[in-house]
Amino acid sequence: MDLGLTGRVALVTGASRGIGAAIAAALAAEGCRLAICARTAETLTATAERIGVTGATVLPLVADLTAAGEAERAVGETIGRFGGIDILVNNLGGGKAGDTDDAWDFTLDVNLGVAVRASRAAIPAMKAAGRGVIIVISSVSGWQVGGSAAYNVAKAAEIMYARTLAKDLGPFGIRANAVSPGSILFPGGGWERRQERDPDLIADFIGRDMPLGRFGTPEEIADVVTFLASDRASLVTGANIAVDGCQLKPSV
Ligand SMILES: NC(=O)c1ccc[n+]([C@@H]2O[C@H](COP(=O)([O-])OP(=O)(O)OC[C@H]3O[C@@H](n4cnc5c(N)ncnc54)[C@H](OP(=O)(O)O)[C@@H]3O)[C@@H](O)[C@H]2O)c1
Repeated sequence: MDLGLTGRVALVTGASRGIGAAIAAALAAEGCRLAICARTAETLTATAERIGVTGATVLPLVADLTAAGEAERAVGETIGRFGGIDILVNNLGGGKAGDTDDAWDFTLDVNLGVAVRASRAAIPAMKAAGRGVIIVISSVSGWQVGGSAAYNVAKAAEIMYARTLAKDLGPFGIRANAVSPGSILFPGGGWERRQERDPDLIADFIGRDMPLGRFGTPEEIADVVTFLASDRASLVTGANIAVDGCQLKPSV
């Protein structure tokens, strides 16, 4: 299937490793020009170089996107470099453990707040172009209980944010969707660390709550995101696409 993404401009937040890096690599492989964003210059540059080996144009943007003005700056620099923005993948997420005000503020902001600020910054250029795609990486934690309340609430809010954007921006030719991964295993990721710490617990989790009998991979998320980013998904907007292998519980 030709996705027709050649030359489209994308920004992927939180893209030096894991799901974000896989999404960036998949979009680059389809011919997108893209900006990728993370805080650590070394890993971000290495990821940009790895993706760029295929000949793709990849702009690494070092930024702490939770800092005031940084999400807007990342979008602005993407537009400045490439002349527009067609695809925004709000991948950055995570959380702080605990039930403190600080944990709630941080968790809501790193997931939802950054996505709102980046989207708000990208929408005028998308409206001017008469096209655009916004994708928010949520989680199965957005509708299944497990893990921290703040993370679950933030991920649920992201799903509703994408749906509301879809309603408001459809008339301008802009689509918005949420993609909700199940538990994804990759080197340096949280699940790898937990598996190393407690292999029996994780084996039990997989056996009981993952019908396919395994974790997902970042590439399995990236493939769905890449399709959604393309015009081949032209009628898909306001959706929450679970890419979770029918996972029954978000965490253990
Ligand atoms: N992994 C899973 O099993 C899973 C399951 C469901 C949903 N999700 C969702 O999928 C998304 C990606 O998850 P992941 O596990 O791939 O993430 P991850 O391993 O935590 O990677 C996060 C990426 O974001 C960057 N980053 C972290 N804080 C940042 C900040 N303040 N500003 C800019 N960049 C920042 C990191 O690089 P630096 O540290 O250098 O900044 C890294 O590139 C998240 O929204 C997560 O909630 C993940």
